[in-house]
Amino acid sequence: MKKILITGGAGFIGSHVVRLFLKKYPNYEIVNLDKLTYAGNLENLKDIESNPNYSFVKGDIVDEDFIMNLFQENKFDGVVHLAAESHVDRSISNPTEFIKTNVMGTINLLNAARNSWGNDFENKVFYHISTDEVYGSLGKEGFFLEETPYDPRSPYSSSKASSDHLVRAYFYTYGMPVKISNCSNNYGSHQFPEKLIPLMIHNIQQNKPLPVYGEGLNIRDWLWVNDHARAIDVVFHDGVLGETYNIGGNNEWTNIDLVKLLCQTMDRKLGRKEGESEKLITYVTDRAGHDMRYAIDASKIKRELGWEPSITFEKGLEDTVEWYLSNSDWLNNVTSGDYQSYYEKQYK
Ligand code: NAD
Ligand code: DAU
Repeated sequence: MKKILITGGAGFIGSHVVRLFLKKYPNYEIVNLDKLTYAGNLENLKDIESNPNYSFVKGDIVDEDFIMNLFQENKFDGVVHLAAESHVDRSISNPTEFIKTNVMGTINLLNAARNSWGNDFENKVFYHISTDEVYGSLGKEGFFLEETPYDPRSPYSSSKASSDHLVRAYFYTYGMPVKISNCSNNYGSHQFPEKLIPLMIHNIQQNKPLPVYGEGLNIRDWLWVNDHARAIDVVFHDGVLGETYNIGGNNEWTNIDLVKLLCQTMDRKLGRKEGESEKLITYVTDRAGHDMRYAIDASKIKRELGWEPSITFEKGLEDTVEWYLSNSDWLNNVTSGDYQSYYEKQYK
């Protein structure tokens, strides 16, 4: 039996990782540590909450004493660290929160793991989940490689870059058994509707304006969240210590083309006239420091660990739209309360 700590397991990607690990590894005890911020939602894990190999701990990774105690009380064999403040727009309005959670939270986990493991790193892994945004912004050509120099532009990506550097520093300085992966934009079920795809699905459903930043020409490389979870599984188990793996969908879309595709899909699903939802598209003030293009070269993880995306974007998006339409309670719950005031402030 192995005991694995997953941080941020009540969030979007984390909940998919918790589910995958529980299903695939019946000999693992999974402890999900999450603060349950606005983005954390135990509803995401309803189907597995009674699994005897699963437990939930509510706590803040910024709380140094709490984290130290947690690692004293539990002998974790591995850590999969996803907990973070993850939304770029929120980092623009409140950067300090991102430094606390993403930088201080990560160093607290590193210190606690190091303290608990002593110098016995055998069969131990500290796996840090990061983003392609640390590499900055691409022009029309080129891809992010693992060797691409860091060039973060937003408070969010700077905080993630900082945490990546710390994780790597603990490998070189203390010999900690670390791994890092940097992934492109995820989409899928259970994503909080502050992010582009679920926000647009929600607004289309409600016949509300679809706020496209700038000219809508920025490009993102989209990956189905379950494929990211599969990649996390592969890196956690087979990745080489000290190494970084880029994960991406090889699937670049301008925002405007993606929003139009969503409009077409929703028109079909909702029985609306063709072109009806597109009328809701509204160009709004651009995001400050808006990165132009992200595109991942994921050949290393394919070559060395045999991972590649399992489904096409068309299929993944269709399933995602279907999930949101069939889970309106989930969407209504997360968009009541605080979401309303966030939305007013962000899109006023
Ligand atoms: P999310 O915002 O949906 O979930 C984050 C989770 O972390 C939430 O459950 C939240 O409650 C928890 N959390 C936040 N602050 C905490 C704290 N101080 N202590 C304990 N828990 C805390 O994020 P996500 O989209 O699932 O992203 C998960 C990770 O993957 C992040 O590290 C993010 O940087 C990274 N990532 C995300 C994407 C993406 O497209 N969403 C892509 C690449 C990498
Ligand atoms: O690349 C990986 C990153 O992808 C992750 O590290 C982040 O956690 C995740 O939030 C995501 O960051 P982005 O900023 O790319 O995602 P977001 O969904 O916020 O925006 C996607 C694109 O859509 C971006 O170019 C901004 C644009 N956008 C977004 C929103 C919310 C709009 O045009 N309108 C909107 O209302």
